[in-house]
Amino acid sequence: MRRLAILGSTGSVGTSTLEVVAAHPDSFQIAALAARDNLDLLEVQVRRHAPRLVSVGSETGARELRRRLGRTPTEVAWGTPGLLQAAGDAGADLVVSAIVGAAGLLPTMRAVAAGKDVALANKESLVVAGDLVTAEARARGVRILPVDSEHSAIFQCLAESGAGQVRRIILTASGGPFRTRPRATFASITPEEALKHPNWSMGKKVTIDSATLMNKGLEVIEAHWLFGVPVDQVDVIIHPQSIIHSLVEYVDGSLLAQLGVPDMRVPIQYALTYPERRPNAVPRLALETLTGLTFEAVDREKFPCLDLAYEAALAGGSAPAVLNAANEVAVERFLNRRIGFDEIPTLIRKALDAHPRRAVGTVEEILEVDREVRRRLEDY
Ligand SMILES: NC(=O)c1ccc[n+]([C@@H]2O[C@H](COP(=O)([O-])OP(=O)(O)OC[C@H]3O[C@@H](n4cnc5c(N)ncnc54)[C@H](OP(=O)(O)O)[C@@H]3O)[C@@H](O)[C@H]2O)c1
Repeated sequence: MRRLAILGSTGSVGTSTLEVVAAHPDSFQIAALAARDNLDLLEVQVRRHAPRLVSVGSETGARELRRRLGRTPTEVAWGTPGLLQAAGDAGADLVVSAIVGAAGLLPTMRAVAAGKDVALANKESLVVAGDLVTAEARARGVRILPVDSEHSAIFQCLAESGAGQVRRIILTASGGPFRTRPRATFASITPEEALKHPNWSMGKKVTIDSATLMNKGLEVIEAHWLFGVPVDQVDVIIHPQSIIHSLVEYVDGSLLAQLGVPDMRVPIQYALTYPERRPNAVPRLALETLTGLTFEAVDREKFPCLDLAYEAALAGGSAPAVLNAANEVAVERFLNRRIGFDEIPTLIRKALDAHPRRAVGTVEEILEVDREVRRRLEDY
């Protein structure tokens, strides 16, 4: 029986994780749940899974949830201390890190520092602090198990082979909803259009990141830290069908790929049951129904966010934290109709130029960079 803490339990990955848990009731117990505002869903989840602890975003939210839960014995915590308690002190063996954005960094670090294995969906924590998180994991003998479907694919293709035998990692990208749309029309893209991902159903932020291809840029940085492969040995290729979830090319020219239906329950389950595999009810991939698997190069002029991510990754230091914070601000502004879709990379470019790279050695220094970028972008 594995005891889980699920951070971001009300989100897309969080709810899929709870579906996996419900499908294997004898394998998992819920020690803690955490989210921010969605009290209605949290209440349902707490009643169903009876965790020791639940954490919400605010004190008011905590009071309201406590009132709603009546005599249910679950402890209700709130804010950053509540998140950290859920990550490190609720008796979990494995922490599912599925909060969106840089807000996931502190609880992910807390879980690792407390010696918990982490099933990592929150790619932003590796983007902004990959060296610190992976160094702490090594020091504590903690496993970081990828939840992102691409990284789960690579993890499976790497198996026992060390990174030394890898020529390159190839991340596949669907290309998002605007793969074939002319760039000249990007200024008129609405949030509604950008939120329609062709293959995956996900939270809003990662869906917009998929439309700009920033998601793939963040994944390049995530792959670099997870697998110890240099950034310039992580490539991206467009594969519109999202059937091949990613590939590893070895020094002898062999390419290993992992295939499956695009359903997050598969990589989530693998992270939860690793190193075992368990049967499940996810629809099978019927190869005979596939009409073709196609590939094309990324149009890097049309999707400049990908190169911005490579640039920040190669610069290192504070640059990935600047990239990430600026992207979070830009995505939120686009969703609130304050900037156009085409202005997302412009805003990120401005932030990278306005914040020259500097060395960062602690989580607090990284969070300070994050705050600085958000403050300065208020003037744009
Ligand atoms: N969705 C996917 O298929 C997918 C695939 C691969 C990787 N990922 C990655 O997984 C992460 C989560 O994505 P998602 O699509 O699941 O996002 P989502 O649907 O937007 O859910 C985000 C979750 O985080 C919680 N949250 C947000 N800010 C918080 C804060 N400050 N404190 C506590 N909880 C907070 C939300 O709580 P409320 O609901 O209460 O606001 C919600 O439970 C992202 O890093 C994303 O890139 C997602």
